[in-house]
Amino acid sequence: MVGFTKAFDWKVGQFIMVALLVMIASFYTGTLFSNNSSSSLYVPPQQHDVQHKQHPTANASSPTSGVFTNKVSLTYRTEPLSIPETGMNICPLTYNEYIPCHDISYIKELLPKLDLSRREELERHCPPLNRRLFCLVPPPVDYKIPIRWPTSRDYVWRSNVNHTHLAEVKGGQNWVHEKDQLWWFPGGGTHFKHGAPEYIQRLGNMTTNETGDLHSAGIFQVLDVGCGVASFSAYLLPLNIQTMSFAPKDGHENQIQFALERGIGAMISAISTKQLPYPSNSFEMVHCSRCRVDWHENDGILIKEVDRLLRVNGYFVYSAPPAYRKDKDFPLIWDMLMNLTSAMCWKLIARQVQTAIWIKQDNNLCLQQNAQQKFISICESTDVAKPSWKTPLRNCVAERTFQKLPPKPQRLSEYSGTLNKLGINREKFLLDTIYWQDQIRQYWRLMNIEEKDVRNVMDMNAFLGGFAVVLNTWPVWVMNVVPANMNNTLSAIYDRGLIGAFHDWCEPFSTYPRTYDLLHANRLFTNYRNREEGCLLEDIMLEMDRILRPQGYVIIRGEDDDVISRVKDLAPKFLWETQLHFLENDQKKMEPVLFCQKKFWAVV
Ligand SMILES: *[C@@H]1O[C@H](CO)[C@@H](O)[C@H](O)[C@H]1NC(C)=O
Ligand SMILES: *[C@@H]1O[C@H](CO)[C@@H](O)[C@H](O)[C@H]1NC(C)=O
Ligand SMILES: *[C@@H]1O[C@H](CO)[C@@H](O)[C@H](O)[C@H]1NC(C)=O
Ligand SMILES: *[C@@H]1O[C@H](CO)[C@@H](O)[C@H](O)[C@H]1NC(C)=O
Ligand SMILES: *[C@@H]1O[C@H](CO)[C@@H](O)[C@H](O)[C@H]1NC(C)=O
Ligand SMILES: *[C@@H]1O[C@H](CO)[C@@H](O)[C@H](O)[C@H]1NC(C)=O
Repeated sequence: MVGFTKAFDWKVGQFIMVALLVMIASFYTGTLFSNNSSSSLYVPPQQHDVQHKQHPTANASSPTSGVFTNKVSLTYRTEPLSIPETGMNICPLTYNEYIPCHDISYIKELLPKLDLSRREELERHCPPLNRRLFCLVPPPVDYKIPIRWPTSRDYVWRSNVNHTHLAEVKGGQNWVHEKDQLWWFPGGGTHFKHGAPEYIQRLGNMTTNETGDLHSAGIFQVLDVGCGVASFSAYLLPLNIQTMSFAPKDGHENQIQFALERGIGAMISAISTKQLPYPSNSFEMVHCSRCRVDWHENDGILIKEVDRLLRVNGYFVYSAPPAYRKDKDFPLIWDMLMNLTSAMCWKLIARQVQTAIWIKQDNNLCLQQNAQQKFISICESTDVAKPSWKTPLRNCVAERTFQKLPPKPQRLSEYSGTLNKLGINREKFLLDTIYWQDQIRQYWRLMNIEEKDVRNVMDMNAFLGGFAVVLNTWPVWVMNVVPANMNNTLSAIYDRGLIGAFHDWCEPFSTYPRTYDLLHANRLFTNYRNREEGCLLEDIMLEMDRILRPQGYVIIRGEDDDVISRVKDLAPKFLWETQLHFLENDQKKMEPVLFCQKKFWAVV
């Protein structure tokens, strides 16, 4: 038996379970230390390489167990900021799923001020600095290094996401089932109980008049609204379609956490009062399968946001009761939807089984006519270079601008009009691509890991997406983040067929702890140098630590030497190991590149 993944490929059923159980047993063979305080920390043996654990006789790296001096203590951010001599404090175990900007107890206090009829409580609400925790978020009891892709599509460790609620309410719809130490994802969803592949094939039939699939319909980028455990996204991958999946943190507890644990790209978000953090004209399909969004309410302001996000000739796929049921007020809702979509000059192209599909047509004449008759208003043109970040929703639709993009993989290297508008010429674009190709080869060599050792990746300051382009053929997905105070290069990233989001690193990201295997931070700290509120170097390091999986990596570069040396000095207090290397920057000068690895520690 070679690797775990291979084992899965070769054998079936019982054998897999046995192999998995062996891994569990061997994960916790390290000595547990304790000192005089009630809680202490230990590092389980190095479990970098799964193979070692399947060969008890192999010369595995010796256990590096040890006790740290960090204290477990609920600690808030103070001003000025201070870090104890003993290292960063560790938050109590109950905070193992802490997401600062989606913290129910804080949002409860805000409720009287929020517009609940528009579900504003589901959006991001970041607490003021003195209410933010300033301690490292611990893993839950029995946390295990996540199972590797592609096995993780179907199986994840139960103890890593120990919530039975979803299995109880959604088991019947085949979202997720319990299987001993594991969660099993059979690939179902509310509207695709019989599995996503069949559903995806049907959508392909509907968009191509029975002649092809979603790929041949020209769909490469999908936004999945209310994605559940993101099985839809997982089963679009074989068609080379990239999906940005999002769902709020609501009654369907931890659906995004399940998706991320499976190694499927997703984030927490809600469509409510603000624009989604994605650029206009970015998706060829927006998908809502029982996504629990009231598109017909409030003059259709939410479906107008879909119009913003869709590319011209993009599809809105709607699988929900108004599309097929004749009881209750479903027919009325359907009529309202038809009115709204025709006002936006969308065309209903198919309505079958439980699904309706519209296309956003390239028809400005129609829009102008509808605007004259006051069916719709056309947006005043806005500064397209401005990221949609904390931007209120607009009750209008923009004039259509059709942009011809090649299919993938050519799309990855296409020089798009967006770049021209941003003042980035062809040569710079090409150099950027070549540069990152070389850097990534160096990164993996220096980290001494294999391609399959990382799955969930974030480029925290992605610029043109050159980093993600290189990883496109690897078994990884990349969340490209463009800081909200930068020019909107995220549009250019989407034009290359990649996905990402705007974000302001003065605030925590909308994701669960332990999301990413690798964070890439190029010129990140420098970008926030003159911003004080919540984005000092230590704040950003803390957030990196929160969203990083145990044994995950951070690569920090493009910074002044003093930034690199400060991170290096602070790293032990954050329980990170570091290695300093020197690589060429894009000006062909050597610059320091700091590789950090988060240790695997736990509160015992
Ligand atoms: C592997 O085994 C050899 C000899 O058996 C020993 O000298 C060496 O230190 C071991 N290496 C590790 C990492 O345990
Ligand atoms: C899940 O949590 C419960 C307590 O809430 C605990 O009894 C159980 O052992 C946990 N299961 C796993 C697999 O960690
Ligand atoms: C899609 O169309 C093909 C060809 O007409 C057909 O064989 C297949 O069963 C259809 N799939 C679904 C899910 O309707
Ligand atoms: C689909 O095919 C049918 C029959 O060939 C044809 O009448 C119809 O116009 C086609 N629809 C589209 C959207 O191409
Ligand atoms: C749809 O639009 C028509 C014509 O503007 C109007 O008469 C009808 O009441 C509208 N229906 C709904 C459900 O809003
Ligand atoms: C943003 O774009 C404008 C041109 O659209 C350019 O002049 C400016 O330098 C850019 N800013 C950054 C930080 O790249």
